Amino acid sequence: MAEPFTVLIMAAGRGTRMRSELPKVLHRVCGKPMLEWVVDAGREAGADRIVCVVRPGDGVAEGLPDGVELAEQTDGEGTGSAVLAAREQIESANGPVVVLSGDHPLVSAKHLTGLLDAHRADGAAVTILTTDRLDPSGYGRIVRNGGGQVERIVETKHPEGVPEEELAIREINLGTYAFAPDALVSALDTVGESDGERYLTGAIGVLSERGKGIVTHLTDDASGALGVNDRADLMRAEAVAQERLLEAHAQAGVTFLQPETTRVEAGVEIGVDTVIGPGVSLLGATAVGAGAEIGPHATVIDSRVADGARVLHSYVVESEVGADATVGPFAYLRPGTVLGEGAKVGTFVEVKNSDVGAGAKIPHLSYIGDADVGAGSNLGASTITANYDGRRKHRTSIGESVKTGIHTSLVAPVDVGDRAYTGAGSVITGDVPEAALGIARAKQRNVEGYADRVDPKD
Ligand code: UD1
Ligand code: CA
Repeated sequence: MAEPFTVLIMAAGRGTRMRSELPKVLHRVCGKPMLEWVVDAGREAGADRIVCVVRPGDGVAEGLPDGVELAEQTDGEGTGSAVLAAREQIESANGPVVVLSGDHPLVSAKHLTGLLDAHRADGAAVTILTTDRLDPSGYGRIVRNGGGQVERIVETKHPEGVPEEELAIREINLGTYAFAPDALVSALDTVGESDGERYLTGAIGVLSERGKGIVTHLTDDASGALGVNDRADLMRAEAVAQERLLEAHAQAGVTFLQPETTRVEAGVEIGVDTVIGPGVSLLGATAVGAGAEIGPHATVIDSRVADGARVLHSYVVESEVGADATVGPFAYLRPGTVLGEGAKVGTFVEVKNSDVGAGAKIPHLSYIGDADVGAGSNLGASTITANYDGRRKHRTSIGESVKTGIHTSLVAPVDVGDRAYTGAGSVITGDVPEAALGIARAKQRNVEGYADRVDPKD
């Protein structure tokens, strides 16, 4: 068993540069809140405790995954105050405390295990994750003495007043550290405020003055090191995370025809040999099976698409598409739609809260809402369920192997039996028995000589 460690995530910053009502760490990267990315990295690295520092009442605590402990930052501003808000958890920690920033969504389990290995090997009071591969503007810089020992971290968020030679330092602090818990608390207790904040980075200077071991662990993974302070940073993190997700799906057997126009959110599952065309978005809790074809230009949200299904130029929300079923082009599946195996929903068709049986077809220009369509039925072009009487919604039941004529209106509640037919243009208000033909339209009448009357020849 590896030695236990605690992960402490600072997530209580004001994040004012995001210019948002939403706390910074709840902004999403590939659909998943930044903070959750960081929690997941801690979990994957094997942390036995994860503590998150939040600001009471800002809504961050509510969205935290199960098993994450909370500490509330009620006193003081700044990353040092954030860490001190978790004093109890640090004092009771078993093994090192890995301090992470909730605004570094791309920090990986590999960064953390590398950092911890270095920390254990050196037995230092603190090991700091650094990089020299990013534009260092705004980050804290690692200042070393003549002997190359870390002396302190200089903040450059406000570069005025920072000496030229310190602004020239390229090695930056990534806000990711492994600390010996007692050294961390005792150092922070002596750090004063600058610009109204208590800086965690001040603790490094204190530890150096006390002659404690300070080690850096350099990463060359520049994109994984990105911190998010504003929405331009968020955009960059999004691009990196998206590329990584697509890369992982591709390695697992998915073909992307035009990855640069494809959006696949974190947590989406895709089976092998599935082909994702241009302009596709797979969002939320979506799972696509194997050998499916999605796109071009399809959006699938919180839905399941089974093996071998095809979804072309369509918008699919909270629906289930059965194996080998076809959707689109130009279909809209709304919540509660379930398509059976081999079913077809075609062009300019909207389906809502309906069960469409195996092999059933709704090929053209239809609205099917609150209906059950039996297996093997074929609904003629422009079959419409009138499911709403202005006050309440009612269900339509269509049996198996039914054939509706074009322009059939089914005024719910209504029941069409197995193998029944409806005549073209019918407004069906009463049940149609099994195997019957329901016709409900005025008989045709021809008015002879009509044109001669209204439009006489000279
Ligand atoms: C911090 C570091 C800087 C480092 C950079 C890496 C300090 C003083 N500076 O700067 O050296 O290069 O991160 O990205 O630590 N937070 C709280 N409570 C607070 C303030 C912040 O929990 O009162 C949290 C934030 O939510 C954020 C993290 O701490 O997740 C970092 O805070 P932020 O204000 O973004 O620090 P930086 O200026 O980026
Ligand atoms: Ca930051």
